[in-house]
Amino acid sequence: MERIICLLIGYVFGLFQTGYLYGKTKHIDIRTKGSGNAGTTNALRTMGKKAGLITLLGDCLKCVFAVLVVRLIYGGSHGDILPVLSMYAGIGAVLGHNYPFYMKFKGGKGIAVTAGIIITSWNIWIMLICLAVFVGMVAGTKYVSVGSLAVVIIYFLCVVVYGQMGGFGVQGSYLYEIYILAALVVISAFFKHRSNIQRLREGTENKLSFGGR
Ligand code: G3P
Repeated sequence: MERIICLLIGYVFGLFQTGYLYGKTKHIDIRTKGSGNAGTTNALRTMGKKAGLITLLGDCLKCVFAVLVVRLIYGGSHGDILPVLSMYAGIGAVLGHNYPFYMKFKGGKGIAVTAGIIITSWNIWIMLICLAVFVGMVAGTKYVSVGSLAVVIIYFLCVVVYGQMGGFGVQGSYLYEIYILAALVVISAFFKHRSNIQRLREGTENKLSFGGR
């Protein structure tokens, strides 16, 4: 039951669509511009650097807040499986962001939210490795989508290595539950990037650009 509650807490936080709401203040519907995605890259592309930064922070922090709320609620009673419950909150935030019910389930692709999941692993090495891979891939290819897909794979690998080292402080089925949830982050990201993958294959993917005002 607590897993479902954590998922729902995450989903509710994930509903806060930073890019979409920022666009509304500028009388822009981000979903009708650029790639049509309500995320950081498209905010950057269509509304400029300030919009991109605000969207990145808002979408990342909503996941961090969801996890903090879960820790606050379950830190005492379920302290032993807090890393598992935190993952449910993180996945919930990705789902709320990607599939907001009040936007006809058309949100973002969940990468900035995944940055929140990475932060709430509370491990500096996982954070630094993921950051380095993302920045390196985007700088090298100029495609944010390539960096996004690379970072979720590296995140999954980091989770498995960290888990095997005993980093999460849980064992057995709880550990495998964390691995499965981390794998879902990867599957979800690839699913949401179907059109990007298609464009990459065709050589028509949008390069990183800073547009707007
Ligand atoms: O995080 C989203 C990014 O990987 C791709 O965004 O707008 O180019 O589809 P976009």
